[in-house]
Amino acid sequence: MSDIKYSFGLWTVAWNGADPFGTATRPDIDPAESVRKLSDLGASAFTFHDNDVFPLGSSEDERRACIDSVKQAAADTGMVCEMVTTNTFTHPVFKGGAFTSNSRDIRRFGLRKVLKNVDLAAEMGATTFVMWGGREGMEYSNSKDLYTAHQRYAEGIDTVAAFIKARGYDMRIGLEPKPNEPRGDILLPTIGHAIALINTLDNGDIVGVNPETGHEQMAGLNYTQGLALAMYCDKLFHIDLNGQNGPKFDQDLCFGHGNLLDAFFTVDLLEHGTPNGDLKPYAGYRHFDYKPSRTEWLPGIWESAAANMQTYDLLAAKTAAYRADSEVQAAFKDAGIAESAVPTLDNTDFDAFLAEPDEDIEALAERHEGLVKLHQLALKHVIS
Ligand code: GCO
Ligand code: MN
Ligand code: MN
Repeated sequence: MSDIKYSFGLWTVAWNGADPFGTATRPDIDPAESVRKLSDLGASAFTFHDNDVFPLGSSEDERRACIDSVKQAAADTGMVCEMVTTNTFTHPVFKGGAFTSNSRDIRRFGLRKVLKNVDLAAEMGATTFVMWGGREGMEYSNSKDLYTAHQRYAEGIDTVAAFIKARGYDMRIGLEPKPNEPRGDILLPTIGHAIALINTLDNGDIVGVNPETGHEQMAGLNYTQGLALAMYCDKLFHIDLNGQNGPKFDQDLCFGHGNLLDAFFTVDLLEHGTPNGDLKPYAGYRHFDYKPSRTEWLPGIWESAAANMQTYDLLAAKTAAYRADSEVQAAFKDAGIAESAVPTLDNTDFDAFLAEPDEDIEALAERHEGLVKLHQLALKHVIS
């Protein structure tokens, strides 16, 4: 096992297999037990939703006992609680959204649940607070006023950020985009949508994104490219790694058990940054948000948890070899990767620029970048 720091959502291994077409295929698992098992497997950290640890509606004593049991497991194992998130999707009260419900009472209940959970996150030592708005959406485009829905969403996020600052917590928010499921269309469906809204917030300095592999790929998008945009904007505050086979329902497969080549490039970016050195390696936990497939009995929970880390470790080693390979470096050079770092204009003397003769476009059209050769080198590293 490498020294890479891995983290898991407690809801991942605890998923009992219940889906819209069938009941549970596995018994429920105690969250403290998951912390211990994940530690045994080599993980360094864990994350959870409030209601992964205590049921909604628990008395204060019940809530405390549940939290203390997870804290004890963390203390016994040295596992860090790095992120906390809120369940604003399971209870039917949230069927029309939490922050974007048309009902002001529901919005006030949702916001109070989230703020209480920020206090719990701080108590647990978490420095990231994720918000996945699974019910913040619609089946029909006229279900909400699309201006006020975004306004209420922004208000809710800004309020949580203002609360974190008012409390003086060392904590940042990661919005998690997803295009659909469980709603037909979810608001802030992609990394780009989320960053656009963040740029309108008063407290947007502590709000970034928590992109999930499968969520971008469900929309037919390139996850690695999305991560790079988030890094470019200094907004990559957390990650949810998993696997997905193209645009279909959210599979939440093990990392790499979907688009393996893009998993390679994701690891390449996270571990080594971009080739020209502008984006640095990702500093946060390598966090997995996957589901042990419904077909698995209890051993499969832990086999799949271990698979995520094993695949990442293997790809980390392969990306290191790829970057160090002199043939790859030569192929980068042929592709013009280094030249791409040179700004297109020297200055803003537009008239001088326009007065220059055009480039020889016929000669430039015959330019050979060797991108297939470069990609084949990557593929060779993946499968060798
Ligand atoms: C999904 C989501 C969720 C969120 C989690 C965090 O698969 O649709 O990833 O698992 O990550 O609820 O709030
Ligand atoms: Mn998912
Ligand atoms: Mn997720």
